[in-house]
Amino acid sequence: MPVSQPTVQVINHLDHDYLRQALEHDVTTGLTSSPKWLPPKWFYDATGSELFSRITRLPEYYPTRRELAILRTRAADLAAVSGADTLVELGSGTSEKTELLLAALASAGTLRGYTPVDVDAVTLEAAARRVAGRFPGVDVRAVCADFERHLALLPRDGRRMVAFLGGTIGNLEPVARAVFLKELRATLRPGDTFLLGADLVKDVGRLEAAYDDSAGVTAEFNRNVLRVINRELEADFVPEAFEHVALYDERHDWIEMRLRATRAMRVWLGGLGLGVNFAEGEEMRTEISAKFRPEGLREELATAGFRLRRRYTDPAGDFTLVLAEA
Ligand code: AVJ
Repeated sequence: MPVSQPTVQVINHLDHDYLRQALEHDVTTGLTSSPKWLPPKWFYDATGSELFSRITRLPEYYPTRRELAILRTRAADLAAVSGADTLVELGSGTSEKTELLLAALASAGTLRGYTPVDVDAVTLEAAARRVAGRFPGVDVRAVCADFERHLALLPRDGRRMVAFLGGTIGNLEPVARAVFLKELRATLRPGDTFLLGADLVKDVGRLEAAYDDSAGVTAEFNRNVLRVINRELEADFVPEAFEHVALYDERHDWIEMRLRATRAMRVWLGGLGLGVNFAEGEEMRTEISAKFRPEGLREELATAGFRLRRRYTDPAGDFTLVLAEA
């Protein structure tokens, strides 16, 4: 007999028109700038989410494993300190790590609701279903949204813990990061908490290897943004004509991913009526992934109005998880 799928509520703030407009705006801005750039959120269609899942299992990519190790030993403490009954997760992806937190909140007897938030509707709904199946009785309300733009629209019921894991905060530039933290703080009520995962500054060789794996998965992930643009904006990028570049910028403490044109070419974006020229060797920035120092992170949180309650690091000192209170 077929097992019935649990139903979950999915709220979508990213309807087709919205996505199309946002993509048009970002691509037009980025490709007519000098140097050219594209924002990392457009990596994540179903293929991009799958490629990122593969990245998390690569030997060179340590952040996911380190964060998981911290969660394994600290989830019960986080549940107790937060007293949360509702977990809201920004950039939830496959929600794999989250199950540890949910299980801890369930054991503490407080868990009532889970709201995963992600830009990729396919991955979001599958993850929400899986969680609903594993935690019957928990109110799973998935929200398809852009965490930089739709914070004010997230459900506010309950005593919430907002989790932002994996080091995704590193995708934001310092100014955008400060704005994001302030806006998030403004949506929280006294007693709500913020659980933040952040990658730490470390040996440059290890950092660069984590973003330039020997199997070439990160390179495919990087080129996927061109496939998304080809499909959504009727463009004719030749992804294979772009080389993956990942460099650590020690001045800014961030990894920069770029796509380098291996030859001169002209790309036509039919949906925008826009032609773009690339010179041979021209590099286009596709992502920054900032790395943090514990003290800097505490200061940024304090500036946004958060008070640090807990700070954990894995035994190797690679990654940090902080619990802050509104
Ligand atoms: C999902 C943003 C946390 O910055 O490490 C992985 C994305 N990019 N490899 C990161 C990513 C290249 C990842 N985050």
